[in-house]
This record gives sequence, C-alpha cells and structure tokens, in this order.
Amino acid sequence: MGRLDWINLVVLFAIIAGVRCLRNVTLDVVPELVERGQQATLRCHYILDANELIYSLKWYRGTREFYRYSPSEHPATKKFNITGINVDDKNSNQSQVTITNVDFGLSGNFSCEVTVDEPTFSTEQAIKKITIVSLPSSRPVLASERSRYESGDILKANCSVPPSKPPVEFSFTLNNFPVGQTNARQEKIKSDYYVGSSNSAYMDDYELQLGELSIELKQSHFQNGQLNLRCIAQIPGIYRNVSDTSYLGTGLREPVPERVTLGGRSSTIYGSVLTIFCLCALQMLLR
Ligand SMILES: *[C@@H]1O[C@H](CO)[C@@H](O)[C@H](O)[C@H]1NC(C)=O
Ligand SMILES: *[C@@H]1O[C@H](CO)[C@@H](O)[C@H](O)[C@H]1NC(C)=O
Ligand SMILES: *[C@@H]1O[C@H](CO)[C@@H](O)[C@H](O)[C@H]1NC(C)=O
Ligand SMILES: *[C@@H]1O[C@H](CO)[C@@H](O)[C@H](O)[C@H]1NC(C)=O
Ligand SMILES: *[C@@H]1O[C@H](CO)[C@@H](O)[C@H](O)[C@H]1NC(C)=O
Ligand SMILES: *[C@@H]1O[C@H](CO)[C@@H](O)[C@H](O)[C@H]1NC(C)=O
Repeated sequence: MGRLDWINLVVLFAIIAGVRCLRNVTLDVVPELVERGQQATLRCHYILDANELIYSLKWYRGTREFYRYSPSEHPATKKFNITGINVDDKNSNQSQVTITNVDFGLSGNFSCEVTVDEPTFSTEQAIKKITIVSLPSSRPVLASERSRYESGDILKANCSVPPSKPPVEFSFTLNNFPVGQTNARQEKIKSDYYVGSSNSAYMDDYELQLGELSIELKQSHFQNGQLNLRCIAQIPGIYRNVSDTSYLGTGLREPVPERVTLGGRSSTIYGSVLTIFCLCALQMLLR
C-alpha cells in the first residue's frame, strides 16, 4: 500500500467513526405474547457516544406514534390518543413504556425511534412484534363413543376446549403413550354448553374447538387390559392443559399368573415329596 492509500484509509475510518455515534438500538418486549386484558412493557436500549444527548425517544404502533419522551420539552413525556393503547404513566418514562389492558387489535409491530441531539440529529429505530393471545377458559373435555374397548375395535373419541387465539393443537395419549395426530382434526362446533360463560362475550358465541381421534386398537395399546385415554390441548410455548383420564380398558382378565404360581409351587412340593420317598426307599434298600 502507498502512503496515499494509508491516508485515505485513515480519513475513511475517521468519517465512519464520526458518523457511527448512536448505535445498537434494540427493543425488548416483556412478554412478547400477551394475554388479552394484561399488560406488556417495552424497553428501548441504545448506545450513545460520550458527548451525545437524547433529543427524543418516540414509540410507535405500526406507523402511529403513541408515546414520546423529549427531555427539552415540558413535560418531558407526552401521550398520543391512539384507540386501544392505554399507557400506564406510573411505569413509563425515558427508557420504557408500559401498555395495559391490551386487546387483539394491538397485535403487530411496535417500534422505538431514538433521535440524538445536535449536531447530527441521527435517528435509529428498532422493531418488535407483539402478539395478543387468549387462552382457553377451561380444561379440555374428553368424550369417547363407548366406555369399553377390546383389541381390534376402532376407538373413536373427541376432545373440546373453549375458544382461544391462536387455536389449540390437540393430541391424545393411550396409557401415557402418544398416539400421534392420527385423524386428529380441529373444527368449530356449536354448543349450548358454554352459553353465558364469560368467554363467549368477545368470541363467536357458543363455539368450541374440537379434536377427533379414530384409531384401530392393537394388543400393544393395552397394558394388563387397561386402556387409559387422555387428550392434551396446547398452544406451543404458551399453553398446555390435559383432560381427565378415561378408563376404557376391559380390566384384568382371569387371574392366569396366580394359577401358574400355584402350579409351580405344588409341583415343587410334589418333587420334594418324591425326593424324600426315593431317599427313604434307597436307605431301606441299603440296610
Ligand atoms: C453493537 O452491535 C454490533 C453489531 O451488531 C455488535 O457487534 C456489538 O457487540 C454491539 N455492542 C453492544 C455493546 O451490544
Ligand atoms: C381519545 O379519542 C377518543 C375518540 O377517538 C375520544 O373519545 C377520547 O375522549 C380521546 N381521549 C383523550 C384523552 O383525548
Ligand atoms: C423507568 O420506570 C421503571 C419502572 O417504574 C423503573 O424501573 C426504571 O428505573 C425507570 N427508568 C428511569 C430511567 O427512570
Ligand atoms: C413488521 O416488521 C417487520 C420487520 O421487523 C416487517 O418485515 C413487516 O413487514 C412489518 N409488518 C407490518 C404489518 O408492517
Ligand atoms: C387447566 O385448566 C384449568 C381450568 O381452566 C386451570 O385451573 C388450570 O390451571 C389449567 N392448567 C394449566 C397447566 O394451565
Ligand atoms: C364427541 O363424541 C361423543 C361421544 O362419541 C359424541 O356423543 C359427540 O357427538 C361428539 N361431539 C362431536 C361434536 O362430534
């Protein structure tokens, strides 16, 4: 490299270093999955140069600003009236903002935008997606077509939970072993059962989520004649609940093991008697 190249490189580096003032703007959301009606706290992190000052920190839902911190103004914090966004003043300040009583409509991108003071007024932004969820209001309920099954039968059962957002995934276990997603499907059904529950007020009324199981039973599904069926409803990462157990086996059959033991014991006794008899006969012969 020639001398000119070195000078160019040093100048270039100085320019880059000079421009690179406000850095590493990141946004933390706790939690990122928020239950409807609950709250979330958003925190903006950034790195400033030693002599830099914040000019403003703006908070957006999508493209709409809902909160601003600008230390040169009085008051330093300002709220903007955006439908559905409730800012909790007590827990909002220059570094974070807390939104309360969130509803589904708020799901989407939130961002913080940092602007530093003179001379650069440079601006950096960080984006995070927030998802508002609602969990089922009660446990999964399991129903099977029959109450007793044997090997070779087709076991038909279904599992239902009240609505949730996002919907649950269903799975079933037999004697604690997963039976996979075999014919498990999901649909919404009408049911009078949940009329008047607090959940139906904001969901489509009377709806349930349904998962169905249809499986041909093999001997290997049974354990000592027992067939314990359960269903699990889950939303990966945020919700999991298990139904009561349905006991669908034929129970214990005739007590075969007991007989084998008895047989073994009596033959042993018989053998012992025979041995003693032989020993006696031998002794008599030897005399
Ligand atoms: C700032 O970001 C850069 C590049 O993304 C990274 O290498 C560096 O570790 C970050 N610094 C801090 C303090 O997080
Ligand atoms: C916010 O806007 C709604 C209508 O868009 C209005 O009813 C309400 O009074 C406003 N709130 C404030 C504090 O301005
Ligand atoms: C902002 O508020 C939170 C919660 O009230 C608090 O923990 C934090 O220290 C505050 N930050 C500043 C810079 O005041
Ligand atoms: C949300 O932000 C991501 C980038 O983080 C972007 O790809 C996406 O298009 C944004 N969504 C909307 C609806 O603006
Ligand atoms: C399962 O649902 C019941 C009824 O809603 C609830 O009391 C229980 O805490 C739930 N269990 C789990 C692990 O979420
Ligand atoms: C669920 O299974 C039970 C028992 O087989 C049956 O009576 C009920 O109709 C089923 N429900 C639906 C929605 O298919």
